[in-house]
Amino acid sequence: MPSDLKKIISDGCLAPSGENCQPWKFVVKENAISVYNLPDADRSLYNSKQKGTYVAHGALIENMALSAAQNGYEANVELFPAANEPDLVAVLTLKKTAPRSEALYPFLEKRCTNRKDFTGAKLTDDQKIALIAAAADAGAGELRLVDDEAALKKLGDALAINEKVIFENKALHDFFYGHILWKEHEQDKAGGFYVKTLEFLPHQLKGVELFKNWSVLNIMNKLVGASKMIVNENAAKYAKSGTLGAIVMAGDAPKDFVKAGRAVQRAWLAAAKLGLSMHPCTGVVFFNEQVKDGGAANFSAPHLALIAAAYGEIAAAFGAGNQTIPMLWRIGFADPPTARSMRMPPNIAN
Ligand SMILES: Cc1cc2nc3c(=O)[nH]c(=O)nc-3n(C[C@H](O)[C@H](O)[C@H](O)COP(=O)(O)O)c2cc1C
Repeated sequence: MPSDLKKIISDGCLAPSGENCQPWKFVVKENAISVYNLPDADRSLYNSKQKGTYVAHGALIENMALSAAQNGYEANVELFPAANEPDLVAVLTLKKTAPRSEALYPFLEKRCTNRKDFTGAKLTDDQKIALIAAAADAGAGELRLVDDEAALKKLGDALAINEKVIFENKALHDFFYGHILWKEHEQDKAGGFYVKTLEFLPHQLKGVELFKNWSVLNIMNKLVGASKMIVNENAAKYAKSGTLGAIVMAGDAPKDFVKAGRAVQRAWLAAAKLGLSMHPCTGVVFFNEQVKDGGAANFSAPHLALIAAAYGEIAAAFGAGNQTIPMLWRIGFADPPTARSMRMPPNIAN
């Protein structure tokens, strides 16, 4: 395989994905790269109908398109080209052309998730304009920003419903713990969160280690309100971010999520260019998709009520109405992350 094509694929794989599950594989035939979804990479309650995974694929495709242009190819992208092959997310057909310098390209490697506490400082108007314009260039989805302190306080409480569900719902708890990688080298073989990228404070890490045991967590929830304490800490952290941003889009078909993923990636790369930190906080919005798609039975009645109320707050704050929110981040200023997530070697067949 030509080294250019290999480079375009490996640049693509720098894209973010839920739990860093890297749900993709590639087939290369002459000048065409087929991008396949691996639906078993994330079967969690966060990934109803593969919607989160499709956002990740959009980010992957955006990276590949930027890399193609930078390396002297025009990439024609066809989404879901074969009705009988739902896992074939895209075919990129490459035509040789003059290399084009892409302003966002140098930031493919620099972009990352930063889960540290942010300073709370606000973005400047120029920074806001640059992020919104970068997302708009993808041609699908719109970036909306909220930085009013009263709204952030409400949104902090709403977003932290994610942690309440994780620490009170066995399926979510088991999924979360099943995806923590405790050693850096484990990232060579499996997707998942390398624990140092989760930026737990020392007392939080002790709790996370202890609560791996569901029975212990249950007892601690009853005795000392452990989940409540976790929720309160996270709500405060989210509220103190300075700015929250969401991509809002019409539709909720697979193609819509992939296209929105391209906007997600462009905004995230532009943030990296501006030296801004980003941390997705998408639990509640993807729980909402799960419920919408008929998965209400996966949650308790009290959690369903909390998810509905929290999503209502989020949709109102971002003016989403009955549109879809495929991504929501904390955006702001922070020290660099303690550790960076790694990628497995790409799975490429001819
Ligand atoms: C659709 C989507 C949803 C995500 N949601 C969350 C989230 O709710 N919380 C979080 O900490 N990270 C979230 N992430 C970030 C991923 O965990 C992260 O991209 C992955 O671990 C790779 O790390 P990197 O972004 O530093 O390359 C999300 C990423 C994607 C693509």
